[in-house]
Amino acid sequence: MTQAPAPVATGKVIEVDHPLVRHKLTLLRSVDCDTAQFRSLVEELANLLTYEATKDLETEPYEIETPLTSMIGTAVSGKKVAVVPILRAGLGMVDGVLRMIPVAKIGHIGLYRDEETLEPVTYYEKLPEDLEHRNVFLLDPMLATGGSVTVAVDKVKAAGAVHIKLLAILAAPEGIARLQADHPDVDIIVAGIDEKLNEKGYIVPGLGDAGDRLFGTK
Ligand code: PRP
Ligand code: URA
Repeated sequence: MTQAPAPVATGKVIEVDHPLVRHKLTLLRSVDCDTAQFRSLVEELANLLTYEATKDLETEPYEIETPLTSMIGTAVSGKKVAVVPILRAGLGMVDGVLRMIPVAKIGHIGLYRDEETLEPVTYYEKLPEDLEHRNVFLLDPMLATGGSVTVAVDKVKAAGAVHIKLLAILAAPEGIARLQADHPDVDIIVAGIDEKLNEKGYIVPGLGDAGDRLFGTK
């Protein structure tokens, strides 16, 4: 019997190479970064990631009058955006994206990673109804084993999403490989790709537990 060919990865992995991104990421990682600063930096990094994630949005000519003359400008056209943070830590990225795309619809997926098994546990899901007509930006600061994002992509696809990008702050090579194997069509836009996971599934050198640092729970 002939075997079906393995899916070909078409999704891009973009590690955003920009001095401001590298600077803010360094501040964020440090143990000296307090909760208030951590929140601001996550939001600012999400804002910079949005710039990269929207580079391929379709545009169309748009006629306007300036105070001096008429001209043909440019307007974003085509599919609109839905932003889907993965709770909790993804919430910290929402405002940074909305500052650039204020009309985006917002869905929520609640997941946490079981500390023993590292398997994702789902506790909430509420998504916009028209996901098939939208560019879906999944937000999660951390792509570690990739289990959480893989489940989140399953869910947005089940709700109709076709064009999906993950905006993340840090990724481990293991998480990128897992997401590409399970969902080769998803683009990954990330501020930094780190060296590895440790034995507890934390990204190294990393920044620790993103949710706890964002919400001050530990
Ligand atoms: C963190 C992070 C991701 C997940 C990544 O969430 O925000 O969702 O872990 O790990 P994975 O790639 O191995 O699945 P966590 O489970 O700590 O939940 P929280 O956001 O509620 O703190
Ligand atoms: N989740 C986090 O918040 N940090 C890690 O390093 C891995 C998973």
